[in-house]
Amino acid sequence: MAKSVLITGCTPGGIGHALAREFHARGLRVFATARNTSTISDLASQGIETLPLELTKPESIQALKEEISSRTGGKLDYLVNNAGRSYTVPALDVEFDEVEKTFDVNVFSVMRMCHAFSPLLIEAKGTIVQIGSLAAVIPYVFGSTYNATKAALHAYSNTLRVELAPFDVKVVTVVTGGVKSNIARVDRQLPEGSIYLPIQADYDRRTKHSQEGAMPNDKYARSVVSSVLKSSPKKWIWEGKMSWFVWGLTTFFPQGIMVRITFRLHVLLHVQFVEAESRPSEEAAVSGTQRLPTHDKPQICGRRLDSPKEKLLRTTPSMGHQPLPAH
Ligand SMILES: NC(=O)c1ccc[n+]([C@@H]2O[C@H](COP(=O)([O-])OP(=O)(O)OC[C@H]3O[C@@H](n4cnc5c(N)ncnc54)[C@H](OP(=O)(O)O)[C@@H]3O)[C@@H](O)[C@H]2O)c1
Repeated sequence: MAKSVLITGCTPGGIGHALAREFHARGLRVFATARNTSTISDLASQGIETLPLELTKPESIQALKEEISSRTGGKLDYLVNNAGRSYTVPALDVEFDEVEKTFDVNVFSVMRMCHAFSPLLIEAKGTIVQIGSLAAVIPYVFGSTYNATKAALHAYSNTLRVELAPFDVKVVTVVTGGVKSNIARVDRQLPEGSIYLPIQADYDRRTKHSQEGAMPNDKYARSVVSSVLKSSPKKWIWEGKMSWFVWGLTTFFPQGIMVRITFRLHVLLHVQFVEAESRPSEEAAVSGTQRLPTHDKPQICGRRLDSPKEKLLRTTPSMGHQPLPAH
């Protein structure tokens, strides 16, 4: 009899959709879920069983469990907790109902799914697959809430793995880098009064960053499914854009290197620069020279600070920001 797999968050264009197609192509019995099954009718037409699931409603999880149980005789071989939501907003600008929604989908609902489906997984000596993220291990700028949810997911899974080992249920965390999907679909704006408004354009770019040069989701699915279906899968699978680079960094270098690299890779160098530029120099104060408007300021992210003015910035204390360490 074909092994069964249940996948959350399978709407078209995302990772779940690609995973559903790939597991199906390998001969598994696939249960693909979405909030509204009409959005995944293309999967149904390929022979995949589609079911409704709203993760934030415990009664929806319970109904799904009963349905799967009756269809499989109380067994499930693979549970793939894939559904998730992003929230790319500076830590100081977050709205707390959005923080709660993000934790609800990315963490609490995964805990509810593992709780509900554990009897079926124990019966089948099955495997839980958690779609984690590089964001759990590196400080992706402006993603503090999302990063925290994924770190919580990784930590939860590390302990779940130990607690389920006596029952021969495996837990695999896929530490995922950039993959083509709809994850960055929401257009976000910095709120009025944000201390990051001087770098609005950089913030806008950052909200879509995960999709720049991202791995095609079918390629990601092929690799992940191959790894998961091994008789002894790895406990942590690294896949997606930059995943091997980050694996190397986090494995062989001290934590401090990540702070330095992400500070430079992202936009915070601009903040420090713009902020220092917007303070009148002593010379300007004496001569009455006009300051440039913020949007005309030079952009310097991504190269060394070498000019005399830039060197000065290293040593100029700024409001609430640490000066850059000298090389
Ligand atoms: N893409 C990347 O670069 C990347 C990197 C690291 C980790 N990940 C992780 O990969 C997983 C899949 O995301 P994705 O990139 O494929 O993004 P996506 O295209 O936005 O897919 C997310 C899926 O989750 C579903 N979902 C969200 N909230 C839900 C809820 N309350 N109940 C049921 N389903 C819900 C979405 O359904 P709707 O369409 O109805 O909203 C969608 O099907 C997520 O856990 C994400 O954190 C992605």
